[in-house]
Amino acid sequence: MAEDLTISAGTKKEQYQALIPQIKGLLEGETDLVANLANIAAALKEQFHWFWVGFYLVKENQLVLGPFQGPVACTRIQKGRGVCGGSWAQAKTLIVPDVEKFAGHIACSSLSRSEIVLPVIRNNEVIGVLDVDSEKLNQFSTIDQHYLQQIIDMIPFG
Ligand code: SME
Repeated sequence: MAEDLTISAGTKKEQYQALIPQIKGLLEGETDLVANLANIAAALKEQFHWFWVGFYLVKENQLVLGPFQGPVACTRIQKGRGVCGGSWAQAKTLIVPDVEKFAGHIACSSLSRSEIVLPVIRNNEVIGVLDVDSEKLNQFSTIDQHYLQQIIDMIPFG
């Protein structure tokens, strides 16, 4: 695997396009889920400096905090609760431009203002979610959805 990350400038699209092959390199030859999720969270944080980026994994019918980068966070989220629990329950990506306007948003930190959550699906089942939070409003769009989905699709499941 590659062990260095080259941080690039440019539009968000250009940044994703430079980052994705590097994430592919990081994942190559490694099948351990936690190791791969940890490196994905670190690579995304290093490139985009988001407030919080990480994974929750489904365990015993709850989302449990997994590999992440950023401030300490809530450890368990029930199905259907908050943006993460909603993404899990609906098995779809949720983009929240202003978390204060999202009924049921779970404020792990009052600094978080906008958020995107994508489900991680294996064999038609949600096994976790990728959650990205920004301290600025309206930071995520279908561009993020598109590229973050590509990253999720690269995760090898051993
Ligand atoms: N805000 C999320 C909870 C997770 S943290 O922000 C890291 C939610 O509403 O699901």
